[in-house]
Amino acid sequence: MPNDSNSPKLIDLFSGCGGLSFGFEQAGFECILGVDFDKPALDTFSHNHPHATALQLDLSNDESIERILDVIKSQPIDVIVAGPPCQGFSLTGPRRESDIRNKLFYSVFKLAKVIKPKFIVIENVPGIATLYDGKARKAILEEFEKLDYKPSEKLMYGPDYGVPQIRKRMFFVGVLDENPFVFPPAAVKKENYVNCEQAIGDLPALDNSLGADEMEYPNPAFSDYQKAMRRGSENIKNHTGTKHSDLVVSVIRQVPEGGNHKDLPEGVGDSRKFNEAWTRYHSKKPSKTIDTGHRNHFHYKYDRVPTARENARLQSFPDSFVFLGTKTQQYKQIGNAVPPLFGYSLGTQILRNMK
Ligand SMILES: C[S@@+](CC[C@H](N)C(=O)[O-])C[C@H]1O[C@@H](n2cnc3c(N)ncnc32)[C@H](O)[C@@H]1O
Repeated sequence: MPNDSNSPKLIDLFSGCGGLSFGFEQAGFECILGVDFDKPALDTFSHNHPHATALQLDLSNDESIERILDVIKSQPIDVIVAGPPCQGFSLTGPRRESDIRNKLFYSVFKLAKVIKPKFIVIENVPGIATLYDGKARKAILEEFEKLDYKPSEKLMYGPDYGVPQIRKRMFFVGVLDENPFVFPPAAVKKENYVNCEQAIGDLPALDNSLGADEMEYPNPAFSDYQKAMRRGSENIKNHTGTKHSDLVVSVIRQVPEGGNHKDLPEGVGDSRKFNEAWTRYHSKKPSKTIDTGHRNHFHYKYDRVPTARENARLQSFPDSFVFLGTKTQQYKQIGNAVPPLFGYSLGTQILRNMK
């Protein structure tokens, strides 16, 4: 993102491929550093944040903080964003500093204590609010307060912010100010939620092929969302199909749009009966929550799982954001990511606050 040197500066911890920080960059921030221990995800981060440093570090290790400080030097940092895995909380008994999982979550605050950014943004799964009887949530709020950050929190719902997916994510924002951060209100009304067809309906069917690494756009964009996603992209990448067995194809062919295993005739698809099994998206609704490639979700129209690019679109990654690594790694990076449109909304609101 070609933001200028006066752009406010951002660090992304547990960056993965960098969905959250990419959204902040779209809002006008400059991400100077991403940290994760997963090499393929960091490769994707680097490719799409070419001006940023990518550090492959284990954040459970205290020395990581020193390495990060070496990179930042004395540069003022305005925002830390972080998506620590929720296993970072070990709060069932007395807190044990020696528990390695504890350190993941506390690494955010250890760094914040030294560099004192104006804002700290922490993203997590909705379950964090009730994890360990609410103690995980309470611990986050306490850490903010210990460092004099005023905390606020919100469960953000994807469709409200233009994401064509029913993903919910919990956000905590701490600000070095007397007044707490006010979260951006929903930007999209229910009747205007972006649906699957508007999100991915222009991408090739891959009926008789598995696609290729790069493909021309065969059809014009037919929705505003598609036009926005195509901006700055000359062709389609990460759109390779999956060859399913005849049996899988025959089962999914019998699932109606928006249906799942419960809609199958008796005796069909019995091998998978759990909640999300044999789920087919609905063309006129946002998609289910994108996962890391479990192969239980199917295209609303075609009898196959969505491609990595289709999942990326449903996560609001523009087509110019390219995923590196094997197909399995691409699905994982996309499913783990925070939709850039969440980052864009939060970043825009934080910029307003800073001004
Ligand atoms: C939910 S994902 C973050 C997604 C990211 N915020 C985005 O928007 O794309 C959590 C990330 O934490 C990383 N991670 C987990 N444990 C870690 C550790 N000990 N040190 C560094 N990174 C870790 C994982 O590799 C994963 O990429």
